[in-house]
Amino acid sequence: MKESELKPQKPEKDYSKYFDFSDAKVLSRDENTTTYRIKGRIVNINSAPDHKQEKKRGKEDIEVHYDFSIPEELRTMGIGKRYLIQTYGCQMNEHDTEVMRGMFEQMGYVSTDDRKAADVILLNTCAIRENAEDKVFGELGHLKTLKTEKPDLLIGVCGCMSQEESVVGRILQKHAFIDLLFGTHNIHRLPHLLQSAYFSKELVVEVWSKEGDIIENLPKKREGMRAWVNIMYGCDKFCTYCIVPYTRGKERSRRPEDVIAEVRELARQGFKEVTLLGQNVNAYGKDFEDIQYRFGDLMADMSKIDIPRVRFMTSHPRDFDDHLIEVLATRGNLVEHIHLPVQSGSTEILKRMSRKYTREAFLTLSDKIKAAIPDVMLTSDIIVGFPGETDEQFEDTLTLVKEVGFDFAYSFIYSPREGTPAAGMEDNVPLEVKKARLQRLNDLLAANAREKNEQLRGQIVEVLIEGESKNNASVLSGRTRTNKLVHLEGPKEWIGSFIQARVTEAQTWYIKAEALEKPAQEAAV
Ligand code: 5AD
Ligand code: SF4
Repeated sequence: MKESELKPQKPEKDYSKYFDFSDAKVLSRDENTTTYRIKGRIVNINSAPDHKQEKKRGKEDIEVHYDFSIPEELRTMGIGKRYLIQTYGCQMNEHDTEVMRGMFEQMGYVSTDDRKAADVILLNTCAIRENAEDKVFGELGHLKTLKTEKPDLLIGVCGCMSQEESVVGRILQKHAFIDLLFGTHNIHRLPHLLQSAYFSKELVVEVWSKEGDIIENLPKKREGMRAWVNIMYGCDKFCTYCIVPYTRGKERSRRPEDVIAEVRELARQGFKEVTLLGQNVNAYGKDFEDIQYRFGDLMADMSKIDIPRVRFMTSHPRDFDDHLIEVLATRGNLVEHIHLPVQSGSTEILKRMSRKYTREAFLTLSDKIKAAIPDVMLTSDIIVGFPGETDEQFEDTLTLVKEVGFDFAYSFIYSPREGTPAAGMEDNVPLEVKKARLQRLNDLLAANAREKNEQLRGQIVEVLIEGESKNNASVLSGRTRTNKLVHLEGPKEWIGSFIQARVTEAQTWYIKAEALEKPAQEAAV
């Protein structure tokens, strides 16, 4: 079809708020993307998330692609150039950054921490709470000055914020100096998007609303001795406060053989620990139609791989089944730490959050886990000030925290996210009250943590030494199997090794220990 035959046509999503489409010229269109020239800017648009549409998820097949490679002609694009990625938010984003770093380096770019030396700066953004977004908008303000001083600098925004229509609009209107804007489903397109940005010298926007297929074989640049491995993408839980099911799309599990092969390879390379990643790992495998294989089965297979520690993030209490508990109780390389977000201790609030479990069900689950793994460390995520949360309901959260005895929890003040059901609920709790609740919760969590650490005094723990302590070079820091931070004295040569140590002192957020013996293994990474 010739360019002239393609009439300007609005994309699936209404971008007319941001662009005047009467002025638009369609340059090309394929299955996924329409490329417009609008007021002198090249804009590639597929569509942005639509909250109503997204909830009507069907069972479309997700394809797995094993043929990813960066085209030969793009492999020299970065020679002599430097890149910098600033990452906000969760481990999923950190891991996406590793993938983008892998791609940058295959194109010849080298990494820099110095913004002034960078030729490309990407902000890998987080949309989970308003303050995460504010940080990015603040950063864009600073980058504008840099771009004025160095017009050749390419600036891009990617990650979860790019999947939100309102954010895309705000960026395009108020931060028009950026060169690239792409979504979470478009990461593998980075080489092409960079190429378009260089050649067009115009804004390139590519945000696919439909989650992409699963792309295997993406390059990854990992560092250190701990590696993250995605086991699934997306989330279908639709908790009423949460933006993730919209920004990350529907649940798609990676095939077990691909996950197993990746972890085996990491073991071969000398990594000491892997963390299996997914927004809701307990839903792993639900989407397989040809095999019955769930998260418990995957963990059982992980325990057969010769890698010292295997963790996972994040689990949902609703799908945490007995088989998984049974497998975790076999220990071996499956560590005694479970991050189990409860969000609230009030059944009524849980119901309005659409968490689909009650306070009692959560307590039964935590009791079951503790019975199977008595020294387990349970950590959590908790939201205070959900719309309409009463004093009594908040007290229910405090009593639950005491009863379970979490070793640690991330605590948040509820932040309305546009388009989510909770954002439409009446929020009658004043900010001052929310702040006071957060403070009380944090005090309780700190007291819990201190008490738990005191209980470890005199015990022997296995520590993976990760590096020198930030504040004192003669002190090493590492992690127990339960992920507790440990400080101990020892030579730098121990970094990367496991050592047995006796706990000598308990602080709130770390423990001190003394080494009992020399490391059993040589540092390999
Ligand atoms: N407001 C506050 N906290 C939130 N979380 C998710 N969405 C929101 C929101 N709108 C928290 C939840 C989740 C963690 C990753 O972030 O506790 O488990
Ligand atoms: Fe968000 Fe987690 Fe709920 Fe999914 S399970 S909607 S990621 S809070």
